[in-house]
Amino acid sequence: MPKPTTAHEGGPEIRRAALLALHRASARIHGRVLGAIWARELQALGVTLGHDTRIMGRPVVDIAPDSAITIHARTVLVSRPPSTALGTSRPMVLRTVHPGASIEIGEDCGLSGTAICSAQRVQLAKRVLVGADVIIADTDFHPVDVIPRRFSPIPIPMAQDQISIEDDVFIGARAIVLRGVTIGRGSVIGAGSVVTSDIPPFVVAAGNPCRPIRTIDQ
Ligand SMILES: CC(C)(COP(=O)(O)OP(=O)(O)OC[C@H]1O[C@@H](n2cnc3c(N)ncnc32)[C@H](O)[C@@H]1OP(=O)(O)O)[C@@H](O)C(=O)NCCC(=O)NCCS
Repeated sequence: MPKPTTAHEGGPEIRRAALLALHRASARIHGRVLGAIWARELQALGVTLGHDTRIMGRPVVDIAPDSAITIHARTVLVSRPPSTALGTSRPMVLRTVHPGASIEIGEDCGLSGTAICSAQRVQLAKRVLVGADVIIADTDFHPVDVIPRRFSPIPIPMAQDQISIEDDVFIGARAIVLRGVTIGRGSVIGAGSVVTSDIPPFVVAAGNPCRPIRTIDQ
């Protein structure tokens, strides 16, 4: 007759499972405490944070004088690799680089390791999903002309440089969204795409330059 297994005999596995559960629980608590600290830091820097925003990992934030960064309710910003399936190779970067610039991220968005720089206005509407390591910038940072390129300040921002990403857009990992672009409601941008011009609503678009490849049922 087989000897009944006691808790003691199942020891190493039970101990391993218990340790893992303990480790995960403490990592969760640690993450929440740090999240609250990073949220406070963002607010101290001047970011307006809506309720129930989640700050996972420490973002890089810079706000130019007379500019604004606003993150609306329930949006999640991920700056640490373990907190997202693909991992992120850098923290979130949120930077306004010119007086009068703004970055606004709407309700219920999710972003991981995204670099957003604005000299004019970058707006993400509601429920926008941004995959790992995407770049969104409404300025080229340097003039194109050779002589002033190296030492001139950032080019003067123009109204037409604004970026608008409408409700329910999904941007694949490592895409780049350049100045002056609107991505229409419900569209999907393929991983690694370079978006240089407007994308209509409800399409899948991909490539460099990014072009619609099919429509999506509404
Ligand atoms: C765009 C995407 C959603 C696929 O959409 P789809 O409508 O199913 O497209 P298909 O796979 O049928 O491909 C259609 C065409 O687009 C091309 N294509 C698809 N994705 C592409 C991309 N990222 N870049 C360039 N071309 C792409 C395909 O090669 C195919 O071209 P072909 O017709 O010449 O063969 C998917 O490829 C993608 O990029 N997903 C993003 C995943 C991601 O980054 N998630 C983030 C997690 S954090």
